[in-house]
Amino acid sequence: MPNDLWSSHRYAFAESTAKTAGRQIQEQTERSGQVKDISTRELVTQMDRRVEKFIIQSILDDFPCDGILGEESGHIKGDSGYLWVIDPIDGTTNYANHIPIYCVSIAVLKDNIPIIGVVYDPNRGDYFRAVCGGGAYCGKTRLNVSEVPLSPSSVLGFSSRFIQGIPSHVTKLIEHFDEYRNLGSAVLHLCYTAQGWFDGAFAHSTRLWDIAAGGLILEEAGGYLRDFSMEPIFPLRCPPANYTANYVPFVAPGTLDNIQSLNPFFKQDSSIGPALHNP
Ligand code: IPD
Ligand code: CA
Ligand code: CA
Repeated sequence: MPNDLWSSHRYAFAESTAKTAGRQIQEQTERSGQVKDISTRELVTQMDRRVEKFIIQSILDDFPCDGILGEESGHIKGDSGYLWVIDPIDGTTNYANHIPIYCVSIAVLKDNIPIIGVVYDPNRGDYFRAVCGGGAYCGKTRLNVSEVPLSPSSVLGFSSRFIQGIPSHVTKLIEHFDEYRNLGSAVLHLCYTAQGWFDGAFAHSTRLWDIAAGGLILEEAGGYLRDFSMEPIFPLRCPPANYTANYVPFVAPGTLDNIQSLNPFFKQDSSIGPALHNP
């Protein structure tokens, strides 16, 4: 897998930081969380804040000119063209309920495109990784999406947080497909789709930190990360203020044919969620 990004300082740093953070989370469990904001119904624990602080401080020490976007801290501007995008715990509700399904997600964007993505699940010890043009791996195993045409028995990752009511595509999808899985971690849904364990995934109330690393891992495994108009989400083309404000709904099938077969379900809802394309 010759690709300069694998041997870059940023990649090595992302790997060691995600693994250190994951171990910290796993060592100390919490039984409570606070609702951050009643309107978004998102939960946060002290561990989310502590781990994000650790990751941000580490980045500032090693890459002081890079920008950083953290779920809990917002956006720190940089001037190097690089932006780190961090979800310190994806699966906070699981973590706060002692359900061992969560992960740390770190991506590096260069000029608005993800070039490095790492996801560490400390409970299973799964380390997912991708660099732009260099393929996707879990540990040493190269990842490839499932290319099986979608059918009612396909296994689909389905994130179930609907802040503004249930959109019509969800009802239609639930009627058509039988085998949904909600692990409580949209990032792991993307990684499991990359691994071919899921045939696809979709989510409604996700944000940039939920998709930046997992989306690259999926695309480097041959899959597609699309908005509800079936358009690519990257490169981002909006002001950074939108990175924290906007939801990024996604649909993530393995093949172009499967994009075509999902398109009719989403057509009616294609304007949902201001994508990160628009100013
Ligand atoms: C959440 C999880 C969940 C998804 C939500 C995300 P968090 O992230 O990925 O599965 O349904 O939309 O916000 O809050 O655990 O980092
Ligand atoms: Ca998340
Ligand atoms: Ca989180």
